[in-house]
Amino acid sequence: MAEVGSFADKVKQQADIVRVVGEYVQLKKGGQNFRGLCPFHSDGKGGDVFNFVMEMERCEFPEAVRIVAEKCGIPVPSKRERTPEEKRESQQRSLLVEMHRETQAFFVKQLEGTLEGKAARAYLEDRGLDKEVLVRFGIGYAPSGGDLLLRHLKPRYPEPLLAASGLVSRDAGGRLFDRFRRRIMFPIANESGKIVAFGGRALGDEQPKYLNSPESPIYSKSNVLYHLDRAREALRQQDFAVLVEGYMDAIAAARAGAGNVVASCGTSLAEPQVKLLSRFTRRIVVNYDPDTAGQAATERSLAILLEHGFEVRVLALPGKADPDKFIREQGAEAYLKLLKESPAYVDYLVGRARQMDLSTGEGKLRAVNYLLPYVQKIPNRLLRSEWATRISQQLRVEEPVLREALRKAASERRSEVQTRPELVGRPGRPAERRLIRMLAEAEGFRVQLAQRLQETSLYHGLETERIFAALIVANLSGDPLDVNALAALLEERERRLLFEILFETQAEPSWDEAESCLEALDRRRVERELAELQRQIEANPAGPEMRGLLERKQALLRKLVATAGC
Ligand code: UTP
Ligand code: MN
Repeated sequence: MAEVGSFADKVKQQADIVRVVGEYVQLKKGGQNFRGLCPFHSDGKGGDVFNFVMEMERCEFPEAVRIVAEKCGIPVPSKRERTPEEKRESQQRSLLVEMHRETQAFFVKQLEGTLEGKAARAYLEDRGLDKEVLVRFGIGYAPSGGDLLLRHLKPRYPEPLLAASGLVSRDAGGRLFDRFRRRIMFPIANESGKIVAFGGRALGDEQPKYLNSPESPIYSKSNVLYHLDRAREALRQQDFAVLVEGYMDAIAAARAGAGNVVASCGTSLAEPQVKLLSRFTRRIVVNYDPDTAGQAATERSLAILLEHGFEVRVLALPGKADPDKFIREQGAEAYLKLLKESPAYVDYLVGRARQMDLSTGEGKLRAVNYLLPYVQKIPNRLLRSEWATRISQQLRVEEPVLREALRKAASERRSEVQTRPELVGRPGRPAERRLIRMLAEAEGFRVQLAQRLQETSLYHGLETERIFAALIVANLSGDPLDVNALAALLEERERRLLFEILFETQAEPSWDEAESCLEALDRRRVERELAELQRQIEANPAGPEMRGLLERKQALLRKLVATAGC
């Protein structure tokens, strides 16, 4: 990245900012949304040309640098030499993209020109999708044959690549066959419009209703939003997105005039999808299905969206219809009207809270607790305060009571944050860390070590106690040691610590070293016990047990001296 940095500086110095910016303004003059939008236009200074281009092109920094350099005629240095491995992978990805493009064309032909396709066309027509829409969205059909696509692709692509594409599967005998059979096929493109996967809908009631491409070198579900490639221009113009669940919803909304629609394809919105979308807009109307799953997904998505600074509205359509069905039944106008009137998310949530039982104090508390986490995510203090007033009115909760609850929740959150640095410090002293490493890896004596620890309980009371316990149990179980499985049983913080320890570079362990670590633990136990004795002695200097306490103290001190130097 350092190279990009210095090249970027050079470009910035040489670039004619007024010209670059002027070019965009010229280009976009027709679009009403761009008039007067440009902060650089009047004086050509005061901003960063790269930020401007990133904003206009919705691209990442390196891409912006390249665009500016090209516009200004500054030669772009060729990319860093890639390793053969990287070259091979990138070649593989290009081939997979090409394969998907061919597959899409194949599915379209099947829909248009075969007898089976005719039944599929009838189904689609029944759902209100005419020829024009099918073409517009690239919809096709996967025939029932079982290997028609395979046979179509086989002459051009090697078998491992076919298998990696997710378009074909392997049966138990290792033979390839078509993954998608007898399904309506929706091509799924990445944000730059390259088809990277498919969603296939069953014609009837077969399960699953939708079968999707598996993850592949070109497709990761959580990184793709359906229809984003086609929504880009509308997102830019309208500066907000409509988020729906399904393919059919996205198609219906786009046809109804909401070209800025994207679908998360399933119920939950993943964080990478939110980040991707934030490159285009930070305003969104969440329009999930009005069923329980949709409501739950709305609330989950709200949390991630708010965390990423989105301004969120929620459209919960009346009745039981999802956007596709609603638009078919009520028409595009009705949909667009509701879309425009979508309430801010807090209003939506308050509405949900009001459906809870508010007749008792307990019920109200539940409703308030349901709302608090969201209210806290409002970054602006004034706005948060306004919402607090609104909520107290709507739920009929005394405002001071609500504010107190908010304050309390906020301070709890702060203290959570404060404890965090401790977690990323280095808990577990060297001897503990060393022993943990040995229990996991010292093939020669890890079981023996586990036995010793078990007998002496030397790990009791340590910060790392639970990591020790898990490792000791695993070592004594007689089964092969599977550190990953074991880690899965630990709390996140401990799991992180365990992996941190296992990744430390350390010398080859020896039993001698193990013994000296055990001695160190023993010393620490003695020190702890001494401290406790001292406390008791001081607390009650004239007590009847004083004699015994003092004797014990002497014994411990002797022991400490004897083991000094560990
Ligand atoms: P829905 O079950 O709401 O489907 O799932 P839909 O879009 O209303 O479908 P139609 O109208 O009956 O054809 C919403 C989305 O969840 C994903 C799909 O992306 C679907 O569009 N989904 C659903 C799956 O991936 N697999 C499934 O089995 C079901
Ligand atoms: Mn639906």
